[in-house]
Amino acid sequence: MLNIVTIPAEVLYQKAEAVPSITAETVALADQMIDAMHGAQGIGLAGPQVGLLQRIFVVHVAGDDPRVFINPEIIGTSIETSKMEEGCLSIPGLYADVVRPRAVEVQAYNLRGRPFTLSAEGILARVIQHELDHLNGVLFLDHLSERKRERMLKKYDPAEHLPV
Ligand code: NI
Repeated sequence: MLNIVTIPAEVLYQKAEAVPSITAETVALADQMIDAMHGAQGIGLAGPQVGLLQRIFVVHVAGDDPRVFINPEIIGTSIETSKMEEGCLSIPGLYADVVRPRAVEVQAYNLRGRPFTLSAEGILARVIQHELDHLNGVLFLDHLSERKRERMLKKYDPAEHLPV
């Protein structure tokens, strides 16, 4: 099982690089990422969270199949925003309301190397935006005010969340 890294691991604050070609290794990596996400009961997981600075993430929201996004770009966002509580497998135990566009249009490559476009709203749009942020070294805490972020980080105690 892939190990999920947690803050303050440096890799979580760096920009990931494009996946240069989609190979059998990419397919195996995506499978391992989906397993790690399920193992941690998460609904999204991005390359940097497993220590890889590669532009790939997986998501699996209720009522949907697992989805893989390679070299994704958000090509459209709704003007309308929504507020939802977010957490992160790399910041265990912390949750906060984050405001983001309610809907997005994303373009990415699938595991067959084919480009696709997806219009998402609700929880799927939320997870896609959260995971895409990870590819740019951005965490959900970065969307909060500095004061709120600092208050939350004071509460963060990784020792309370050691994997068992
Ligand atoms: Ni996250």
